[in-house]
Amino acid sequence: MNKYVINGGNRLDGEVKVEGSKNAVLPILAASIINGGESIIHNVPSLKDVNTLVNMLKTIGCTCSIEGNTIVVNSSGDLDINIPEKPVREMRSSIILMGAMLGRFKKVKISFPGGCEIGLRPIDLHLSGLKMLGGKITESHGYILCECDKLYGNEIHLDYPSVGATENIMLAAVSAEGITTIQNAAREPEIADLQEFLNKMGAKVTGGGSSTIRIQGVNHFQNLEHTVIPDRIVAGTYMVAAAITGGRVILKEVIPEHIKPIISKLGESGCKIYRYDQAISISCGKRPNAVDFVKTMPYPGFPTDMQAQMMALMCNARGTSIFIETIFENRYKHAEELIKMGADIKIEGRAAIVKGVNKLMGAHVVSRDLRGGAALVLAGLGAEGATIVDNVDIHIDRGYDNLDLKLKSLGADITKDEY
Ligand code: UD1
Repeated sequence: MNKYVINGGNRLDGEVKVEGSKNAVLPILAASIINGGESIIHNVPSLKDVNTLVNMLKTIGCTCSIEGNTIVVNSSGDLDINIPEKPVREMRSSIILMGAMLGRFKKVKISFPGGCEIGLRPIDLHLSGLKMLGGKITESHGYILCECDKLYGNEIHLDYPSVGATENIMLAAVSAEGITTIQNAAREPEIADLQEFLNKMGAKVTGGGSSTIRIQGVNHFQNLEHTVIPDRIVAGTYMVAAAITGGRVILKEVIPEHIKPIISKLGESGCKIYRYDQAISISCGKRPNAVDFVKTMPYPGFPTDMQAQMMALMCNARGTSIFIETIFENRYKHAEELIKMGADIKIEGRAAIVKGVNKLMGAHVVSRDLRGGAALVLAGLGAEGATIVDNVDIHIDRGYDNLDLKLKSLGADITKDEY
C-alpha cells in the first residue's frame, strides 16, 4: 500500500497541465465496444480506474494497446457477455458496460457494482432505462442478466438526472431501432463528450449536455479517433491547492466553462482568477474568506466531487461556511480526518458547518474515498508540520494522474512511500 508524506507550508507556484477526464474516458471506453472495430482515444489519463476498465475490456475479448496517453481499443469479433465479477464489485462505473454490451450483443451478465463508500448508489434508473428500450432483466444471486431480441427506441424520463444512467441509456439506444429521447438527462460535460465520441462512430445523438437527449438508432458504426476533454475536477483540485497554500498556479488544458461553479466559489473566497481560452490562472495571497454556502447539485451546480476539497480550504478560512451535500448521503468521511488536523467541523445529516481555524496541524490521516483523499492532501499542503495520508493507491490513484509529481513540480514537499 502507498501513503503520501507531506510537509506543509510551501507556497505553490508554477504551471500544471490538467489530464484528461476520468469520468469522460470511462463511458468512452465502454462505447468502444459498440463499433466492433477500432477506437483510437487520446488524452487518456493514467489512472487505476482506467486500468481496471481496460483490463475488463481485455478479459471479455477486446485488444487494447496503450502508448503514452493514447489507447487503441479493438472490439472486433465475439466478446464474452459475462463481465468479470471482481472489478465490477471494486468499481461502480463498470456498470456502464451494460448498455454497450446489450446494444451490440443483445445480452450481458454482470454482478451488482461496488465502488466508493459514499452512499447507497442504487442502479434502479440504469435498469429501468434499459427495460424501457426492451431489455429483459433477471436478478439472481447478486447478478443481473439483461437480454433482448432487439432494442426499440422509447421516451425515457429520468426521475433524477443520473450521470451513469444517462450514459448507459445512450450507449444502448444508439443501436436500438427508432428514436429514443431521454428527458431530465444529466447535463454534465462528460455526457456531451460521450455524444461526440458516439457520433464520430456513426451514431446520431443530439442534445448531449442539455436535459433532453435525442438518439436516432443506427445499425452501422465505424472506426474513429477522439481526444478526451480535460478533467474539471482535477482542475478544481489544483485550484484549491493554489488557494490553500496562498500560491499562484496556471492550469493549462482546461475548459474554463466547465469549472464555472468552482471559479465562482473560489472567487467568493477571495482568490483572483483569470480565464483564458484553454487556461486559468489563480492566485491567492491571503487567508481565504469563508463562503456562506456550498450546496452540491447536478451540473451546472457545484459538483459533489469538489465538496471535500472545498471543505479542506474552508477549514482555514476566516469565518464559518455551511456545506449541504445533496447528491450522496455519506460523503463527509473526510471531515473526521480533517478534525484530526485541528479543523472545526460539525456534521448534521446532509449539512456540515465548518468554522475556519487559523492553521491546520499535520497529522496521520486515512483516505476513505477518492475525493476525500484528495482533500486530505490539500489540507496537508496548507498545514503546519507533516501530514501522512494513507490509502493513496486504493483511493487517490483511482482519479489523479501522478498527483504527487505534479504538486512537487509546483513546489510542494510531498513524497509517495510504501507501507
Ligand atoms: C457520476 C460520477 C461521479 C459523480 C456523480 C455525481 C462517473 C464515473 N462518476 O457517478 O464522480 O460524483 O456522477 O456527479 O462519471 N442514483 C439512483 N439510482 C440510479 C443511479 C443513481 O438513485 O440508478 C442516485 C445515486 O445514488 C446518487 C445520485 O443518483 O445519489 C447521483 O448519482 P449518479 O449521477 O448516477 O452518479 P454516478 O453516475 O454514479
